[in-house]
Amino acid sequence: MQQIKQIKEIQTFALESRRAGKTIALVPTMGFLHDGHLKLMQKAREKADLVIVSIFVNPIQFGPSEDLDRYPRDLKGDLAKCDAVGVDVVFTPTNKDLYPDLFQTSVDVKEISKGLCGAGRPGHFQGVTTVVSKLFNLTLPNIAFFGEKDFQQLAVIRRMVTDLNFPIEIVGVPIVREKDGLAMSSRNANLPVRERKEAPYIYQALSYAKSLYEQGNRDSEELRRTVLDKLEEKIKSPFQVEYIKVYDALNLTEINGPITTPAILLIAVHLGGPRLIDNLQL
Ligand code: PAJ
Repeated sequence: MQQIKQIKEIQTFALESRRAGKTIALVPTMGFLHDGHLKLMQKAREKADLVIVSIFVNPIQFGPSEDLDRYPRDLKGDLAKCDAVGVDVVFTPTNKDLYPDLFQTSVDVKEISKGLCGAGRPGHFQGVTTVVSKLFNLTLPNIAFFGEKDFQQLAVIRRMVTDLNFPIEIVGVPIVREKDGLAMSSRNANLPVRERKEAPYIYQALSYAKSLYEQGNRDSEELRRTVLDKLEEKIKSPFQVEYIKVYDALNLTEINGPITTPAILLIAVHLGGPRLIDNLQL
């Protein structure tokens, strides 16, 4: 496995590999890798001749009062994990190289970036789509892998790839969870002990609402209320719900009232510092 830091070098690597007829899979990450990230890499390994993982904590997708400085990092550990799952290249660019002084271009997927995480994090998805476009151009993948944990991000990337005609197949990978149900996230490392113990109630609350759905309850308001009630009953630490929503899983529009199409329940909660997100298909 090799680590590439320079833009010129990754471009040459990608171009020469593609010219030689090799297929490339890309897994973009911000590092502090866990089994969720590794699952994406394993899927990528099955699908292409070469697997490139990017590790870059992208400053333009963080708001001014967000956790950019507190975002956990462990490059040495990350490189060992990538090596162990058979990654070929880890691309670790610097801020200065990706965003040099005169940088001023952005990619903006307008409508579906607005709700859910986009409402609480203005500019976030523009930061994501801009950096992912750059990573696509630098690594020339045939196929790229994204987690369903960030369900809106996956939908936004799919829209961007369609709208801008990137010749890249986008693959969504199901959420990988801890044994207690908590969705794996680099940010879980910043959960204090008590909040870490209580965080699995988020998934339990979603699962409880899903069980009601499976028993025939199609009222999105009631399902949302159920999730909130469960959290309030179970979590004793201070927490703040950013959103609990039922969305149409295909076109990512909110469902208010009866659920008649394939739907997904999505949540964002601030618990003991970190902002945690999760979702469950109904
Ligand atoms: P990051 O949060 O590091 O996540 C990298 C990829 O791993 C994303 O596609 C995310 O959805 C996926 N992932 C994270 N936790 C997961 C889990 N528990 N199960 C399955 N997949 C999981 O998402 C980003 O970085 C950035 O926004 C990025 C796309 C790299 C752009 O900067």
